[in-house]
Amino acid sequence: MTNGGTGIATAKSVVIKGGTVLDQRGEHRADVRVEGGVVTEVGAALRGGDTLDAGGCMVTPGFVDLHVHLREPGREEAETIETGSRAAAMGGFTAIVAMPNTEPPHDSLAVVQMVRRRGQEAGLCDVLPSGCITMGRAGETLAPMAELAAAGVHIFTDDGTGVQDPLLMRRALEYAKSLGITLAQHCEVSRLTEGAVMHEGACCSRLGVPGWPAVAEELMVMRDIELSRLTGAPVHFLHLSTAKSVDLVRTAKADGLRVTAEAAPHHFTLTDEMLTGFDPIFKVNPPLRERADIDAVKRGLADGTIDAIATDHAPHPAELKEMPLDQAPPGMLGLETSLALSISELGLELRHVVALLSWRPAAIAGVADRHGRAIEVGAPANITVFDPDLAWTVSPARLASKSRNTPYAGRAVRGKVRHTVLCGVPVVIDGEAQR
Ligand code: DOR
Repeated sequence: MTNGGTGIATAKSVVIKGGTVLDQRGEHRADVRVEGGVVTEVGAALRGGDTLDAGGCMVTPGFVDLHVHLREPGREEAETIETGSRAAAMGGFTAIVAMPNTEPPHDSLAVVQMVRRRGQEAGLCDVLPSGCITMGRAGETLAPMAELAAAGVHIFTDDGTGVQDPLLMRRALEYAKSLGITLAQHCEVSRLTEGAVMHEGACCSRLGVPGWPAVAEELMVMRDIELSRLTGAPVHFLHLSTAKSVDLVRTAKADGLRVTAEAAPHHFTLTDEMLTGFDPIFKVNPPLRERADIDAVKRGLADGTIDAIATDHAPHPAELKEMPLDQAPPGMLGLETSLALSISELGLELRHVVALLSWRPAAIAGVADRHGRAIEVGAPANITVFDPDLAWTVSPARLASKSRNTPYAGRAVRGKVRHTVLCGVPVVIDGEAQR
């Protein structure tokens, strides 16, 4: 028997035992039985079936990452759908949105279906392919959004670049509204960032390298807020990184606009000062910003302005990341460190952290029927079990991703995924992937 979008075989009865269930309805001590892909019992002292020990752990709806680069097709030396799915499962994610900047990109039914099928074959998490907004992500003509939407694609983006042409973006929003899909914008006015390697600010001037000004992001956030107001279509802002961007989204939400936003862990944990040694491991797009921006992103996560934590997991092989700063590609790993950084650095209650990682991104991804659901009888058994107190040190060699470009090597963090259950099947047990 198979279940849900993943197509993986469902398992026999499994009891998640001795943990604290934490979901959108609150927190209580309970065992959870999953069987046939769904939750069948929530209660005290459940017996029978296989057991997953959850002593000292939180048992929560599975996490959903709105922003993952899986690299397949085209750059399998960096990551494959299978290795990326394994990293996702290890990070507690039961669903991930696969970004479209593959080779070829996600602008045809064939590629989107291939990505989804490879995700199902890996059977480690629900891989949700995004669709391109424009053909070839070239920003000139619209991709076949209706056809891709009919095939189940919900998030459309040219991520890696923003849609520069305001008229094309307006048209895309009008289609999106009629199709019931969401456009996710990579906010970067590319004319303002040509040749840039890091955030434009005091540190960048000191180092004497070309800068990526905050305004290049903020102008596109402003424009798309206004285009959303004009068209009535929803817009999701990818990887917000500046204080002003957060303020713009806060005001747009107060105006009642259909605007959502995400932030990546590196934008609330690392500053542009990390680039002082010219190490490309810290090169990312949008770039690491200043302390005031980090504080603003944290405030945005705390007050609900930013809806979700999304990793922007961007694997690159060592030979590329070891090139000089101006030539190395931007991007850093994120899937396996997101929970720990969120717990360790945000200073938020656990329930708030899980909301940002689970049910709120699930709603944006259009999968709230099967991911991020409260843990109750009948709900699809997509569940994450994590120890919020476990202290560990990030070690690149131990990551499941095929690449090693984490900027957190050697960092002491707290909070670790113990088990991940996908459609009732434990795909991670005691921190070990089962496939
Ligand atoms: O740092 C980044 N890396 N930002 C992006 O927008 C794209 C991504 C990648 O694909 O490597």
